Amino acid sequence: MAKKSYSLNVNGQRRQVEAEPDEPLLWVLRDFLGLTGTKFGCGEGECGACSVLIDGDEYPSCQVAIEDVAAGEEIVTIEGLGQPGSLSPVQQAFMDYTAFGCGYCTPGMIISATALLRSNPHPTRDEIIAAMDHHLCRCATYPNVLVAIESLAGSSDEEDR
Ligand code: FES
Ligand code: FES
Repeated sequence: MAKKSYSLNVNGQRRQVEAEPDEPLLWVLRDFLGLTGTKFGCGEGECGACSVLIDGDEYPSCQVAIEDVAAGEEIVTIEGLGQPGSLSPVQQAFMDYTAFGCGYCTPGMIISATALLRSNPHPTRDEIIAAMDHHLCRCATYPNVLVAIESLAGSSDEEDR
């Protein structure tokens, strides 16, 4: 398939990319734009490692073709959370509660937790588990992830997460 030129909206910036229309967004982010925080796990939409936000909703970037986000959809990766020099509240909570082992699954987990808390600032434990259920963690950090997210779910501080 012939390559085409795309102008993507990634982390608040316009980024030009030459790619085949069916190129997975995951590889565009990692290989073309150098945003390697988004991880490759299964490549089949089953593990959550490659999660990104597209117009505020979580998607597995391994299952999204570049052509599907070329109309200006707002793509946010783990690098786009927080502010320069400061972590987002979800990133900080994962740090505070050591909600990671090797860290490989962590960017996807944080993206999911961010999407959850923005749409539902005070989720119950069951809602958190349901929202995070598709993430696989070989380091079995699930209990700490749950506590980290619960620490924000119980907060009255609903600043941009
Ligand atoms: S790499 Fe995309 S869901 Fe596993
Ligand atoms: S922290 Fe190692 S895979 Fe989840």
